[in-house]
Amino acid sequence: MKRIFITGALGQIGSELTVMLRKIYGTDNVMATDIRRNDSEAAQSGPFAIVDVTDGRKMVETAKQFKADTIIHMAALLSATAEANPVFAWNLNMGGLMNALETARELGCQFFTPSSIGAFGPSTPKDNTPQDTVQRPATMYGINKVAGELLADYYFHRFGVDTRGLRFPGLISYVAPPGGGTTDYAVEIYYEAIKNGKYTSYINKGTYMDMMYMPDALNAIVALMEADGAKLKHRNSFNVTAMSVDPEDIAAEIRKHIPGFELTYDVDPVRQSIAESWPNSLDASAAIEEWGFKAEYDLAKMTEDMLQKLREKLG
Ligand code: SER
Repeated sequence: MKRIFITGALGQIGSELTVMLRKIYGTDNVMATDIRRNDSEAAQSGPFAIVDVTDGRKMVETAKQFKADTIIHMAALLSATAEANPVFAWNLNMGGLMNALETARELGCQFFTPSSIGAFGPSTPKDNTPQDTVQRPATMYGINKVAGELLADYYFHRFGVDTRGLRFPGLISYVAPPGGGTTDYAVEIYYEAIKNGKYTSYINKGTYMDMMYMPDALNAIVALMEADGAKLKHRNSFNVTAMSVDPEDIAAEIRKHIPGFELTYDVDPVRQSIAESWPNSLDASAAIEEWGFKAEYDLAKMTEDMLQKLREKLG
């Protein structure tokens, strides 16, 4: 990666990834793009362009002008928003991905796009979910992710585009909030713990999902993109995870720092049923074996850092 073009650069992952890649590869070598500009560090600290990912021509032209050799395609709707607007989700998630893959093919770029635990469904083995297994998701988001994995592998085999991807679990961060995801509760719970000492969860107790702290997710993207392609048996996409938790696990960990923290429930049937259709825990051994995936943060270490960073951020 030398000349990196990022879509959805002001989203939950993009806003931190952009800043990190600028530190590693040089500010001028990382172009952030999104449908709007804001005053975040990602938007202000280096090259930026407005690009709507459904506009393929604009994407190719902007990437060509920038002399991109890497496309990191992040722009997409998350699971709950996609479920509320399935047709729009198909058009944005699939249309955007096709345009990004075509840009990579036309310019000969390396390519990354994230998949998700959402690429699995009710008939997938729930515990220690294997790398290669049944993928029959029950959500529009999941259908987009499975189709996206297949398309990205297709571009590799058919056109030789160096496509790579990760099946991310819920990502937890104190920088940019997620929007419209099923795993968002695991971010909100920390904000509310600091602000109000209590949280009402829309995901029920006993509902286990994989999670990962953002620094581990960003390091995984860089490690995968820098990995020797000859050693990759899989490409789109690798299971990665750092922990499997339910709301009670997170609350218990928060109570070690905020003893009076209260957790109550008001379950949202839509997001609860999405969560129940996803794995409890992923097997990340293919990522470990093929390119050395490693997560530094477990629940305890992440909680300590989240609460400290959020205290600073929220005053
Ligand atoms: N965090 C995402 C979501 O909940 C999972 O990929 O939609």
